[in-house]
Amino acid sequence: MKNELKIFCPATIANISCGFDVLGVALDAVGDEMVIRKTAEKGIRITKLEGQDLPTETLQNVAGVAGLALLAAGDYEGGFDIEIYKKIKAGSGIGSSAASSTGAVWAMNTLLGNPFSSLELVQFAMEGERLASGVAHADNVAPALFGGFTLVRSYAPLDVISIPSPDALYATVIHPQIEVKTSDSRKILKTNITLQDGIKQWGNLGGLVAGLFKSDYDLIGRSLVDHIVEPIRSILIPGFDQIKKVALEAGALGCGISGSGPSIFSFSKGEETAVKVGEAMKEVYQKIGVNYDVHVSKINTKGIKIID
Ligand code: HSE
Repeated sequence: MKNELKIFCPATIANISCGFDVLGVALDAVGDEMVIRKTAEKGIRITKLEGQDLPTETLQNVAGVAGLALLAAGDYEGGFDIEIYKKIKAGSGIGSSAASSTGAVWAMNTLLGNPFSSLELVQFAMEGERLASGVAHADNVAPALFGGFTLVRSYAPLDVISIPSPDALYATVIHPQIEVKTSDSRKILKTNITLQDGIKQWGNLGGLVAGLFKSDYDLIGRSLVDHIVEPIRSILIPGFDQIKKVALEAGALGCGISGSGPSIFSFSKGEETAVKVGEAMKEVYQKIGVNYDVHVSKINTKGIKIID
């Protein structure tokens, strides 16, 4: 059995407009790399962390705490060294913490001969999310582990459903270069919603899931509406309304906040439209003088993968 793995851990878009804390999708074009090595020494050590300024103490690092959760649940006597090469910026809204925590537990499980189920891995990785944001949400870690779209039907007990991805569906993500901490962008949310808003939101959530199953791009597009979170969080994102307007004009099916922001995502039918949407989004930030990154990506249906 191998003692070391090098892996790609995908970025993810959580919430997807109408599915706050329950819906997510994995991307192909952007993700972190990690090297995980089995050691005779007990415990978890983050031996290298490049690309972002993040803590390397095991208990302060999302990969560290997720890894410790896995170790605590099993009977393995040794430990692991973890190297993290961050390509996803922390606080960008495309699942930076989820990539690290899922990568750690997925590789550890693989190196141990798969003693844990995917659902158990989601639970271990959620400990990383608890450290990063104060809340153990699963809408980034589930798609990173399962690939494609996932729905967290229930948190207690945890129940994660994989949802198919239509072949021609592409995501465009623009990341304005500001950092929004998930913990901060959760604090500004209301804890109660009106029945009227609930009705609109779960109508759209059902519509989006149905649209993905049926490969009905129009239905996907008209379901990408958020009546609850976007009106509050969009205030934190420069040029949000303008970006959304130009993305839809350029042919996007829909557009919204990626996870807790500040990244903005849109879905398009076909790569050509997704690229055009990216160009239109860029122009807005060029005009108002905001630095940005843009990613155009096919849906990643496999999740984490071994590289090299
Ligand atoms: N569902 C989480 C939130 C995702 O919106 O706070 C964070 O990436």
